[in-house]
Amino acid sequence: KEGPPMLWGIELKWISLITLALQNAFLTIIMHYSRISTTPGKTYSAATAVLLNELLKGSISVIIALKRIDTNMINSAPPPVYSEKSNSKDSTRRPSPSTLSLFHPSRLITLRKAVFSPDCYKLSVPAILYVIQNNLQYVAASNLDVATFQVTYQMKILTTAFFSVLMLRKRLTRLKWASLLMLAIGVGIVQIQSTSAPAPSHTSHIDIGKPHHGDHQLRSEIPHEHVIQDQRIMHPFRGFMAVTLACMTSGLAGVYFEFILKSSSGSAPPPDLWIRNTQLSLFSLVPAIVPIIVAPAGPEGMGYVGRVMSAFSNFNGWAIGTVLTQTLGGLITALVIRYSDNIMKGFATSLSIVISFLASVALFSYPITLAFVTGSSIVLAATYIYNSPGTAQEQSSRTKVAV
Ligand code: C5P
Repeated sequence: KEGPPMLWGIELKWISLITLALQNAFLTIIMHYSRISTTPGKTYSAATAVLLNELLKGSISVIIALKRIDTNMINSAPPPVYSEKSNSKDSTRRPSPSTLSLFHPSRLITLRKAVFSPDCYKLSVPAILYVIQNNLQYVAASNLDVATFQVTYQMKILTTAFFSVLMLRKRLTRLKWASLLMLAIGVGIVQIQSTSAPAPSHTSHIDIGKPHHGDHQLRSEIPHEHVIQDQRIMHPFRGFMAVTLACMTSGLAGVYFEFILKSSSGSAPPPDLWIRNTQLSLFSLVPAIVPIIVAPAGPEGMGYVGRVMSAFSNFNGWAIGTVLTQTLGGLITALVIRYSDNIMKGFATSLSIVISFLASVALFSYPITLAFVTGSSIVLAATYIYNSPGTAQEQSSRTKVAV
């Protein structure tokens, strides 16, 4: 019997969860900073960032999918099937994978058939939801400080659990619901406590994990123009609405993707994760391009060139860093959904809040407060309770769900 997928002797499940926690902590900081560190009107286009993210993620997924194509499948009689596991024992017909280059026509044809399979349209739903969510995230990051954004974004733990129960028929015991609620509360305490934390002992322009009031303390030490800029661009209510909607789309899209990934139609095994990711990115392209096309045209008389130029204006290093971090996050999220599930993803992202606070302690000498210790302990206890063996039997039955 095959064991769980491993990397460097560690289960891929744990590697992906820990990497996701680190990536999440970093993304919140870099995205917020990339939005507020410019003068008003000089911010890069969020729509372009979302499109670039999809293009990059799609290209990486295509390359991994091509690499994973089973050469035995290529050789077998039509129609070629793409599956994660090769079930044939006939090694005589199998050429060594190295004999076929990555972009060998037979690989490309097999990939095309797998990607444009009859059921590929299913991916359009999470694809559209993720594009909306990714755009909303930029609205939220531009209008809320890092901490408020992180606290309110934790509502997705509950929306995800709700959709998992509704669509995947996961059965959660009362204890599990209680631990999810505890998790959300614990995260809230970790964040809110920093509103009353004293200013850091040394100044930085990067306000890691600092909420609004904390920002004010920090603001008194940073150049005056930054203060004015911040106050001018932020609209907290708009940010709050964006984050609330993003929680809904996050829960729904994640659970929908999990359903597609883990359900098989008929006797065929479910397609490979990287085929699903390629399909997801393909379907994302249309909704991701629309906001760029309908955006105001570039400089007069410059036509398409002007449009492209304005889409990429103000795309500085911070913006590129944000896109790269988001792409990495998309890829890891997919792995987490594949090898764990969406609810576990919630725990990983909650740990990211503890990580980003500890980073502020290390980098900016933030004091560790009682509230931080309390909040973090609640988060850790909730994680333990949710995963304790007594409750683990109540896992999912993900069959025949009509979505
Ligand atoms: O906040 P949440 O965890 O729902 O965000 C998931 C992120 O991961 C989204 O930005 C989405 O675009 C990305 N994702 C992805 N590919 C997947 C699943 C998620 O890029 N297969």
